[in-house]
This record gives sequence, C-alpha cells and structure tokens, in this order.
Amino acid sequence: MQTAFSLRRASAALALVLAAFTIPAAAAPSAALLQRCAACHGATGNTAAALYPNLAGQSAAYIELQLNNFRSGERPHAQMRAVAGQLTGPEMRELAAFYAAQPVKPQPSLDAALEQQGRRIFEHGSTGGAPACAGCHGPQGHGQAPFPRIASQPASYTLEQLKVYRDAPKFNNPLATAMKEVAVKLGEADMRAVAAYLATVR
Ligand code: HEC
Ligand code: HEC
Repeated sequence: MQTAFSLRRASAALALVLAAFTIPAAAAPSAALLQRCAACHGATGNTAAALYPNLAGQSAAYIELQLNNFRSGERPHAQMRAVAGQLTGPEMRELAAFYAAQPVKPQPSLDAALEQQGRRIFEHGSTGGAPACAGCHGPQGHGQAPFPRIASQPASYTLEQLKVYRDAPKFNNPLATAMKEVAVKLGEADMRAVAAYLATVR
C-alpha cells in the first residue's frame, strides 16, 4: 500500500535523525533543580494543571529534544524558553532521565461516547485521511523512538498541541513536520475526540 510504504520510509528517516541523540547514564537531579519544574509539571512529572503536559513516562530522548527545541526557539513558547535557557546540557539529561522513570497517572474518563470515537481515529485514522496515531506512537500511545508518548496527557494539552502543529506555517525539523502532515488532516471534532480518548489511556 502506497501510504503504508511512505509512512515506513518517513519513520526510518526520523529514526536516523534521533539516533544521533544517545543518552549516557545521568545522575539524579538535585531537589533544587526539580523545584524549578514542580510548580507546573508536579513533583513527579504528573501535571499540576490541565494545560501543562505530564513529563512522567515520556521518553528521555524526547524530553531532552524538546528542551533544546524550546531553548533554540524551534518550538516557540515564552515560558518554556525562559526555563530551558537556564539549563545546562547535563541538567537537561538528568531531568529527562528522572521524569522518564516516573509512573504516570491517566486522566479520568469524562465522556465515553466521545472517547470511543477518538479510539477509532487512534487505531484506524480519520475520515479526512489522517493515518492511525497508533502506527507511529505505538498500540497504546506509549511512544517508540523517535515518537513521543501521547497516552495519559490532559485532553486540553493534546488538543492545543494538535492545533499548534496544524497552524504553524512550517517547522525546520523533520519530526514536527511529520506530525504537521497528520494534524492538517484532522478536523476540530477529530482532534477533540482523539484528545479525550488519549487522556484516559494508561
Ligand atoms: C511556569 C510553568 C512551567 C515551568 C516552571 C516549567 N514548565 Fe515545562 N512546560 C510548561 C508548559 C505550559 C508547556 C507546554 C508548552 C507548549 O505548549 O508547547 C511545557 C512543556 C514542557 C515540555 C514538553 C513536553 C512535551 O510533551 O512535549 C518539557 C520537556 C518540559 N516542559 C520540561 C520542563 C522542565 C524540565 C522544567 C524545569 C526545569 C519545566 N518544564 C518547567 C510550563 C512550565
Ligand atoms: C507519521 C508518524 C506519526 C503519526 C501517524 C502521528 N504522529 Fe503524532 N507525532 C509524530 C512525531 C514525529 C512527533 C514529534 C514531533 C516533534 O518533535 O515536535 C509527534 C508528536 C505528537 C504530539 C505532541 C506530543 C508532546 O507531548 O509533545 C501529539 C499530541 C501527537 N503527536 C498526537 C498524534 C495524534 C493524535 C495522532 C493521530 C491522529 C498522531 N499523533 C499521529 C509522528 C506521528
């Protein structure tokens, strides 16, 4: 199948990009360092509010990559740019390893019918032609390098990110570009449904 083939090719290219990010064993972050993140991301990376992502259970490579993207401005976000700009490379690696090892708590189910609709998109793709999320993010949305974990995030965070990928004029990195190609094929109702479903996935 043409789409399956080009998807595999894209995944192989992305895997090569991330192969450059090898993570040596990192020291545990100090309490003072963790304190810089806790107000928004919680003491163990389980988010303190619906618009902040969980860091718990996210892949260490992805956390480190995004901290670098915030610092360079490739992922535009004023708050996180200021935070990331004050971290050294070794501190980023310590934090990434710490959060990746923390257990993540899924969000409670709020609307079973909407979540069921979202599950169909996650497993089979959207009527607008977006491919199944599971194809890249894994059968439970737990992520698989170079694709991030998307399960258990607050629905409002996932919805906002899908809109950012859809609306940004362009990205300079192949990973965000790959996700943009998916997001532009999702309607607003698809986004809401899949975000609601993912929030409940353990
Ligand atoms: C003032 C609140 C605040 C603080 C403090 C903060 N963050 Fe964030 N962080 C956010 C917000 C908001 C986002 C979502 C950004 C977006 O929409 O792109 C985010 C996103 C992230 C992401 C991207 C996660 C993903 O799934 O893509 C990482 C990684 C991250 N933060 C790490 C950290 C670390 C490490 C610290 C501490 C050194 C920290 N943050 C401190 C608010 C904060
Ligand atoms: C072709 C592979 C591919 C498919 C299919 C795909 N994604 Fe992604 N997705 C990615 C990549 C690569 C990234 C990381 C992009 C980056 O670094 O900004 C990503 C990032 C994300 C993020 C941001 C996570 C975070 O915390 O920063 C969300 C949310 C997301 N995808 C949701 C979805 C949903 C929902 C679907 C299905 C409708 C989907 N993705 C399908 C490749 C894919």
